[in-house]
Amino acid sequence: MDIKLTTGKVISVLANESILNALKRHEVYLVASCGGKGTCGKCKVKIIEGKVDVVSTGKLTLRERESGFVLACQSFPQGDILVEIPESSRLIIGDKIAVSRSRDLFELLKSFEVEVKPIVNTVDLKLPPPSISDNISDLERLKRALDDIGIKDMRFSYKFVSSMADTLRQAGWDVTLGYIDGPEAIFISPRKDGARYGIAIDIGTTTVVVYLVDLMEGRLIDVGLTYNSQMRYGDDVITRIVHATEGGGLNELRSFVVSDINTLLATMTERHGIAKEAVESATVAGNTTMTHLFWGLNPRYIREEPYIPTLNLFPMWKAGTAKININPQSPVYTLPCIASYVGGDIVSGVLASKMHRSSEVALFMDIGTNGEIVLGNNEWLMTAACSAGPCFEGSGIRHGMRATEGAIEAVRINPETLEPDITVIGDARPMGICGSGMIDAISEMFLTGIIDQKGRFVRDRDKKTWRLKEGEEGFEYVFYKDEDIEIALTEVDIENILRAKAAIYAGVSLLVKEVGFTLDTIEKVYIAGGFGNYLDVEKAIILGMLPDLPRQRFSFLGNTSVAGAYLCLLSEDLRKEAEDIASKMTYMELSVSRGFMDEYMSAMFLPHTDMSQFPTVEKLLKGA
Ligand code: FES
Repeated sequence: MDIKLTTGKVISVLANESILNALKRHEVYLVASCGGKGTCGKCKVKIIEGKVDVVSTGKLTLRERESGFVLACQSFPQGDILVEIPESSRLIIGDKIAVSRSRDLFELLKSFEVEVKPIVNTVDLKLPPPSISDNISDLERLKRALDDIGIKDMRFSYKFVSSMADTLRQAGWDVTLGYIDGPEAIFISPRKDGARYGIAIDIGTTTVVVYLVDLMEGRLIDVGLTYNSQMRYGDDVITRIVHATEGGGLNELRSFVVSDINTLLATMTERHGIAKEAVESATVAGNTTMTHLFWGLNPRYIREEPYIPTLNLFPMWKAGTAKININPQSPVYTLPCIASYVGGDIVSGVLASKMHRSSEVALFMDIGTNGEIVLGNNEWLMTAACSAGPCFEGSGIRHGMRATEGAIEAVRINPETLEPDITVIGDARPMGICGSGMIDAISEMFLTGIIDQKGRFVRDRDKKTWRLKEGEEGFEYVFYKDEDIEIALTEVDIENILRAKAAIYAGVSLLVKEVGFTLDTIEKVYIAGGFGNYLDVEKAIILGMLPDLPRQRFSFLGNTSVAGAYLCLLSEDLRKEAEDIASKMTYMELSVSRGFMDEYMSAMFLPHTDMSQFPTVEKLLKGA
């Protein structure tokens, strides 16, 4: 049995194999946000010819079903079939990604006023060449030279020793030795006067970012960025954990992310003529699940009550263990995690924000695939994970998609005509709506009276515009329509977005209450994560996702996870600071908190049931 694609590619199908799995086996990847459960509706393909057994049609519309669309994960070929994959279902990994606003990292490093001290220490050694009268072994010669400068009891791995003899001779016995505290030898090379290299890695649930850094100058040489290939098994950490544990896919998920890192690394080192083996250290920041998967650790107990990770503080394991293609002896520093759902990416973010150094009370929010928040200052830090889910990245929203080409990213609605004015990433034909577009859309629909405070469509508004109409899932508002596609937000979509924003806002309210403060005591709000770059603060306040604080208190920090990893690559003091942050941070488990449900239910309105918390929105509505 074969599946023929309209592109001409032919792939074989095994007995009882879904179209999604058959495509995956042949490296044709579809968006599979729910990991193949049939609930997200993102893996749709069109059957042009042939018979398929359809188990469920999930979120497909009648129009889609009538046009021959099926869910690839729920459809099993019953003979040869001809299939068309629409653009919106393709998972393009390695494609261009909207890059976060770059910050001057070196300026950031300097602003910490710490000594630049990479993970690997170096010492230059000029050894006397061996002779008949001085015929001790190479290793003893090296130890003798180290002894002379007071470095004792160095450990040498087999890998180090096995290549040492040639290196010493090629270098004319004039060498640089790299070692880590212990002490343990990492590399030996001809005397180095020039650059030394390291990499800072951010493993996000959605994206993987690698910075190639000159360790001598702290200069960022290159940035590599791609989608996390683990997305083939779902959008959120839970679907990945399920695949790793129930699906036996731990090694597969691990190899996906390691191969993403290695691919980025290969491109960057080649572009700059740097030998991969010359990369002497690495730092890694990621959420707790991503960090576990990166190191090949079973993430199973992260998901099961009482939600316990294997470890939070990672030893300095080696690049060879991680299977990263640099010197296998290179140490890999992992940013410490806090709890199952607050990881090293957040510790990294707090470090980069510097909130832990200031007496001002600040709120750090990372609104990515999930929502993590930290409240505090130089004396205390509280953190929580908000279980917002990945809806702002498109999951659970019928026409939701990531912020890539073809995504509606901004919306204005004319209050008179109720006609939308949309901005699409890349000025392309619209294919869906991304997180910032959703926030814009809902706040505009609210301000123009298309939806009410509960996020329900105001029925009589449909007399004013054809765009508000009865769809298969109830009322919906159409933002874009052409002969093939109709992009709308339904009441179900709006409810999902309200749930996500309510979880974030309730988390913030609860943390603030827990420490006995009020929202207006927050002097700074730092917004991190890729999504943060495109967020319109005004609209997010109207939505009730962000607290109604003076706008100048908000700042966008971009990808703070990789920024913190960069800082730790270059400074021992900052590695210690990261560990201090982790030990100081008190984790609050919102799911068992008594007040959470109340806060959450109050935040399920636009912007909130208690309008006194949103004075500027109240004013706006009264003026409208
Ligand atoms: S519906 Fe098929 S992957 Fe989600």
